[in-house]
Amino acid sequence: MIYVTRRATFSASHRLYNPLFSDEENERIFDKCNNPRGHGHNYVLEVTVRGVPDPQTGYVIDLKVLRDIIEEHIIAKVDHKHLNDDVDFLRGIIPTAENLAWAFWQILEPIIPAGTLHAIRVYESENNFVEYHGEPMEVPRYPVEQFQQSAL
Ligand code: NI
Repeated sequence: MIYVTRRATFSASHRLYNPLFSDEENERIFDKCNNPRGHGHNYVLEVTVRGVPDPQTGYVIDLKVLRDIIEEHIIAKVDHKHLNDDVDFLRGIIPTAENLAWAFWQILEPIIPAGTLHAIRVYESENNFVEYHGEPMEVPRYPVEQFQQSAL
């Protein structure tokens, strides 16, 4: 088995808060990440596909194909966006790196054309990153009208 990884980058803003918490609870739990107008990150996304190389090409997956899929289905939708407001597939979801990794998995897993999606890593900063391998997991979606950044 070979593990093939493509890295992509995007810049986006977000605000971490739970609409069911009081302002005080949000501030205590999310601290600076609860800043009402949001804050930004330069994210790094790594997508790992595993498989056995095709005997005729030597590829598990053509990395140009993987690059284009990540660009079209993820990067084009999140780069230079506000993750609370601007991204349909994140509506109502607290946009932590954990939940981003889960959401990106849901999008990519069904459309990887060769090999099997193995891991999604989302780096929020140089030192902080999360990794998801597709284990079943529920991510709550809060009512969008309470959740939108622009509702402030
Ligand atoms: Ni943040």
